[in-house]
Amino acid sequence: FVTQLDASDTEKGMYPFYMLKEIDEQPAVLRRLAQTYVTEDGQTTIDDALLTHMSQSDRIYVVACGTSYNAGWATKHAIETMTGIPVELHVSSEVGYRLPMLSKHPFFIFLTQSGETADSRQVLVKVNELNLPALTITNVAGSTLSREATYTLLLHAGPEIAVASTKAYTAQVTLMNLLGKALGMKLDRQEARDFDIVHELGLAANAMDTIINEKEVIDQAMAQLLETTRNAFYIGRGADYYVAMEAALKLKEISYIQTEGFAAGELKHGTIALIEEGTPVFGLITDTLTGPHTRGNLKEVESRGANTFVIASEALAKESDQLVMANVHEFLTPLVTVVPTQLIAYYASLHRGYDVDKPRNLAKAVTVE
Ligand code: G6P
Repeated sequence: FVTQLDASDTEKGMYPFYMLKEIDEQPAVLRRLAQTYVTEDGQTTIDDALLTHMSQSDRIYVVACGTSYNAGWATKHAIETMTGIPVELHVSSEVGYRLPMLSKHPFFIFLTQSGETADSRQVLVKVNELNLPALTITNVAGSTLSREATYTLLLHAGPEIAVASTKAYTAQVTLMNLLGKALGMKLDRQEARDFDIVHELGLAANAMDTIINEKEVIDQAMAQLLETTRNAFYIGRGADYYVAMEAALKLKEISYIQTEGFAAGELKHGTIALIEEGTPVFGLITDTLTGPHTRGNLKEVESRGANTFVIASEALAKESDQLVMANVHEFLTPLVTVVPTQLIAYYASLHRGYDVDKPRNLAKAVTVE
């Protein structure tokens, strides 16, 4: 799959920026991943040696940087639920020199779009020295981290050229779910059997399509909300918090607006002091357990003058919400919620007059520690 590139993979075509093209490609990436990793009769194509190895582990350590790290968080709950194996997340540069305390049978997953990030490689070198098993999930076949890990799974997202990562994030979230499903089936877990992943990914891809087709709404809203502001917040709880972290990273990377992704319930313990008249606060509400509480937190910031913008799933939406998304399976909500936040970042950068694809001070792959 996608080993031979044609011009549509590497050229912008009708698009003003690669980032917008790559946002638009995401539903197709989801569908392609489902086809690649699940056969028509519902069997996984993931290497059985990898699944056997993982099924013997008592703890999964996910190591990554930047957007890939945020993708790891967005899948922790799904993998733990489907496999019963605890998942720990680590920023590569924090564990390269001092590995975290390890369980008896650790299994490492390196999430890396480029497969070349020096901080992540530093950890893999240590893991290899200890003869521990590792899987690299990457978009680039033959990349350094792919060659040096015991196992590799490819993201098949096609080349990602904009510095701000979009389709690699959704591909990572999708593939981690496919892996969790396959591993949970191997471990004979009901929670994995209950998750009809191909069907659910189809629904998520359709929900993404709907948002992408309505991007003008976001374009117009951002012209007002983010054209001149110096700071902004994303808040949410549970899965919505993990997407808030990625949404904030995306917005700051390309619009230079100082943005925090915050656990909605934690605001009142300090950060709410930063809210003043006109501060933009984006609320993400898709998590049925915690969504109503995030609404309460939005009320608190509104009463201190914040301009709120709510992105909610249908089941939890209110008429006043600015963007309503179709309901999707709880493991897959990050795939859909992240799309409007990518568009928010894109249009904010555009309205502020920046080069969306080439933000200052950033590189696509960081090969120094
Ligand atoms: C750079 C890029 C980010 C990316 C991070 C990790 O900082 O600008 O977009 O998330 O590296 O890259 P990787 O290739 O390891 O996923």
